[in-house]
Amino acid sequence: MSPSNLAVRGAWLCLLLLSAAAAPAAEALGMNWGTQATHALQPKIVVQMLRDNGIKKVKLFDADHGTLNALAGTDIEVMVAIPNVLLDLMTDYDNARDWVRHNVSRYHFEGGVKIKYVAVGNEPFLASYNGTFDKVTFPALRNIQNALNDAGLSDVKATVPLNADVYNSPTSNPVPSAGRFRADITALMTEMVTFLAKNSAPFTVNIYPYLSLYLSDDFPVDFAFFEGQAAPVVDGAISYTNVFDANFDTLVSALKAVGHGDLPIFIGEVGWPTDGDRRATNALAERFYNGLLKRLAANAGTPLRPNQYMEVYLFGLLDEDVKSVAPGAFERHWGILRFDGQPKFPIDLTGQGQNTMLVPAKGVDYLPRTWCVYNGNAKDTSKLAENVNFACTFADCTALGYGSTCAGMDAIGNASYAFNAYFQVQNQRDEACDFQALAVPTQTDPSTATCNFTIQIAADSSTSAAHRRTQSVLIGAPALFVLALLQLFFVLH
Ligand SMILES: *[C@@H]1O[C@H](CO)[C@@H](O)[C@H](O)[C@H]1NC(C)=O
Ligand SMILES: *[C@@H]1O[C@H](CO)[C@@H](O)[C@H](O)[C@H]1NC(C)=O
Ligand SMILES: *[C@@H]1O[C@H](CO)[C@@H](O)[C@H](O)[C@H]1NC(C)=O
Ligand SMILES: *[C@@H]1O[C@H](CO)[C@@H](O)[C@H](O)[C@H]1NC(C)=O
Repeated sequence: MSPSNLAVRGAWLCLLLLSAAAAPAAEALGMNWGTQATHALQPKIVVQMLRDNGIKKVKLFDADHGTLNALAGTDIEVMVAIPNVLLDLMTDYDNARDWVRHNVSRYHFEGGVKIKYVAVGNEPFLASYNGTFDKVTFPALRNIQNALNDAGLSDVKATVPLNADVYNSPTSNPVPSAGRFRADITALMTEMVTFLAKNSAPFTVNIYPYLSLYLSDDFPVDFAFFEGQAAPVVDGAISYTNVFDANFDTLVSALKAVGHGDLPIFIGEVGWPTDGDRRATNALAERFYNGLLKRLAANAGTPLRPNQYMEVYLFGLLDEDVKSVAPGAFERHWGILRFDGQPKFPIDLTGQGQNTMLVPAKGVDYLPRTWCVYNGNAKDTSKLAENVNFACTFADCTALGYGSTCAGMDAIGNASYAFNAYFQVQNQRDEACDFQALAVPTQTDPSTATCNFTIQIAADSSTSAAHRRTQSVLIGAPALFVLALLQLFFVLH
C-alpha cells in the first residue's frame, strides 16, 4: 500500500471514529420488519423510509428475495431468518448449505446486502409449542453456522431469537439473581449457549414489558416503564425499578449458571402496541419508547451489565393486519408506523428525547376515497351478525374490541366498520360491498376522532396486491373475460 493510500485510509479511520463517537448509540437501533399484511408496502418504499429515518439495521422473518433486492446497495445491516417450519429441513447439512447459498452467499458481494446475522427459527422453544421444535432447533443452528463458516462467511453469525419464557426464577425466590433456564430445556440451552459462545455469536431474546402488564392485572403499571417510579424489587444490593432490567438480568444469571455469564445478548424484539387493548395506546407506546431509547442512548446497561452498549431491535416497524390474534387483539398493532408507513406518535430514535414524528413512507398510492358502510335502507337485517362475522374473518376488526380505538359503537357502527375493512382488503371490488344488500359504498368518510375507517393502499404500493394483479394478468385473463361476458349478459337482460 502506498503512503498516500495509507494517509487516506488513516483519515478515513479518524472520520469513522469521530462519527462513531458523535453518533448516539440508539442510532444503531434495529427494526423488526414483518410482512404479515394483506397489503404489505413495497420493499423499495420501506427501504427509502428506513434511510429517511436513519435506521441502519433490520431484522427480517424470512429471506424474501424482493426484500433483499431492495436492501442491496444500502448500508443497512440485515438479519435474515429461517422460519420454524423449515427447521426440520435444516437438520440435514446439505439442506443448510443450500439455504446459505441461496439466501446468504448470493447477496454477499460488493454492493450486495450487508447480511450480518441469520435467525434460526423464531421463538422455537415457546412453552405453548409443546416442544415441537426442541429436537430440531439446535441441529439446525449448528448446520447453518457450520455452512456459513464453510462458505467463508464466518463473520455472519447464526443465532436463535428466543422468547423470555426460556428462563425464569423460582416462585420461592423471584429475583433476577436466581434466574435459570427452564427446567425442561436446561440441557438443550446449555448445549446451544456453548455453541453460540464458541462461534462468537450472540444470544437473542425478546423481552416484552407490555405482555407482563397485559397478562397480569396485579402487575404494577410503572414497573413496565423506565421512570424509576415503581416500588423496587430488591435483589441483595440491587434494586430493580423496571421489568426490562429485571428480565434481562434474570437471563444474565441463567447464562452465568451454565458457565457463560459474559455471552453477548441481543434484544431481538421489544416494543409496545397501540390498539386492541386498553393498555395498547399511542400515549403509552410513546412513554415506553421514550424511556427505553434514552437509556439505550446513554448506554446505561442493566445492574448486572452496567454501562454497556445494547444491540436492540424494536418490534416493530409496521402494523401487520393478518398476524395471528391468538396472543391478543393487540398483535396487529405493534408498528411504530401504521400499515401504510404513516407515523403514529412522536419518537426520537436517537434517544435524545426530542420526540417528533418519523419521516413517513413516500410514494404510497391509496385506493380511491370510497368506504363501505351499513345500508340504512336494508330491509332484512336478520343476517347482519352472520355477515359481520364473515367480514371480520377475512379482515381486521381488532379495533372494535374493549378498550380499543373503535370500541363502544352500536351494532350498526360495528357492521359498517367490518364491512369497510373487508371491502378495503378486497381492493374495493364492487362485489365486496354488498353483504346480502346490507352494505353500500359511500364517499363520505365514516371515521370519528378516535376511530379510523381505513382506505387500503393500492396495488402499485403493495407487494401482495401487485402479485395478485400479475396473477390475474397471467392466469386470470380468461376468467375476467367470462366475468365481463356475464356482466354484459345481466346488463342486456
Ligand atoms: C432459501 O433457500 C432455499 C434453498 O435451500 C430455497 O428453497 C428458498 O426458497 C430460499 N428462500 C428464499 C426466501 O429465497
Ligand atoms: C399444546 O398443548 C395444548 C394442551 O394440550 C394444546 O391446547 C395446544 O393446541 C398445543 N399446541 C401445539 C402448538 O401443539
Ligand atoms: C361491537 O363489536 C365488539 C367487538 O366484536 C363487541 O365487543 C361489541 O359488543 C359490539 N357491539 C355491539 C353493540 O354489537
Ligand atoms: C386515519 O388514517 C389517516 C390515513 O393514514 C391518518 O392520516 C389519520 O391520522 C388517521 N386517524 C386516526 C384517528 O388514527
